[in-house]
Amino acid sequence: MTRTALLTGGAGYIGSHTAVVLLQAGWSVVVVDNLANGSPVAVERVRELGGGDVEFHEVDVRDEDGLEKVFAAHDVDAVVHFAGLKAVGESVAKPLDYYDVNVGGSVSLLKVMRDAGVRKLVFSSSCTVYGDPSVVPVTERSPVGDTTNPYGRTKFIVEGMLRDVAGAEGGWHIAILRYFNPVGAHPSGRIGEDPHGIPNNLVPNVMQVAVGRRPKVRVFGTDYPTADGTGIRDYIHVVDLAEGHLAALERLDAIDGAEAINLGTGKGYSVLEVIAAASKAAGHDIPFEIEGRRSGDIATVFADPTHARELLGWEAKRGIDEMVGDHWRWQSTNPQGYE
Ligand code: NAD
Ligand code: WQD
Repeated sequence: MTRTALLTGGAGYIGSHTAVVLLQAGWSVVVVDNLANGSPVAVERVRELGGGDVEFHEVDVRDEDGLEKVFAAHDVDAVVHFAGLKAVGESVAKPLDYYDVNVGGSVSLLKVMRDAGVRKLVFSSSCTVYGDPSVVPVTERSPVGDTTNPYGRTKFIVEGMLRDVAGAEGGWHIAILRYFNPVGAHPSGRIGEDPHGIPNNLVPNVMQVAVGRRPKVRVFGTDYPTADGTGIRDYIHVVDLAEGHLAALERLDAIDGAEAINLGTGKGYSVLEVIAAASKAAGHDIPFEIEGRRSGDIATVFADPTHARELLGWEAKRGIDEMVGDHWRWQSTNPQGYE
């Protein structure tokens, strides 16, 4: 029997890639998105790539009446909750927006799920909950909560809320997926990340410079205690990440209550290593200039991915060259994104 997954934020970057993987695995997909940062073109291309039908509802996750109608119209087996705001700098400038959408939206969704009798959830959390870890790699038992910005605090708060709800009411199966640094695109180049305005993250910036949309990559700090002095992160291919969601959905019954799971590769790359790999993918040098540290940045973080392997039978397969190669294919064939 076909199972149905409802993807909040399914018109966005990680949601659209996950939708394709789910469709190809035989799931039926319903997308709820208010298009604040997503695109209807992405949904169209998900249909094309996934070879299945996708029901799209333009609804805000804070709109409980709207959500109730969606749950009434579909026989939803499980929800993947991607919808939210994700720009760290913006969260410092507009904290209330972040608490409203990320925390308030999760409260609304949980209430509607409970009333609809749907108790299976995969939640998009982030390695940002680990703050500046004193030991790497980080495991799910590493300290959390000492986050450096409002965005990170909203993720930490929702994680706690999910545990409280699962502790108070039986029957919930919740996977809290802590993503490291998602990059790359579907190998077809048809879907990818389409940041509005100047991108905050490294790889979209590097790619926009490579394609000529911006003059130079700004390298934030070369005085970190790392081999080349630049920050080290655990970049993970978005299709690996999408496959991690499929694995989590398939194994939700094994989670009684709520459980956190790292989705990373276990390997870190420096900023300069990423720029070098991207230059190779693009076939030309990508210009950069060294600047001072970006406020709130940390030197190094990467995952211990053992728990995901043991619990979900999932591990990341794609390396850095495939990540930047696929990202480049998307960026070079869609230089203005979905516009
Ligand atoms: P994205 O912005 O591409 O996707 C988020 C989607 O949610 C967008 O399509 C947007 O339109 C939608 N949305 C926003 N507010 C909404 C609302 N009120 N109601 C309904 N829809 C709404 O971002 P993404 O990179 O795909 O991230 C997905 C999730 O993963 C987010 O929760 C994000 O915090 C989390 N995450 C992302 C990263 C990353 O670096 N990309 C890392 C860790 C965690
Ligand atoms: C990576 C490295 C920068 C841009 C953020 C969020 C985190 C998660 C992933 C959502 C760092 C350097 C960056 C640039 C640079 N998102 N850099 N020039 O900061 O690890 O994580 O995205 O949950 O919560 O904080 O990712 O891609 O911004 O930075 O030198 O133009 O690249 O200093 O070392 P980050 P990033």
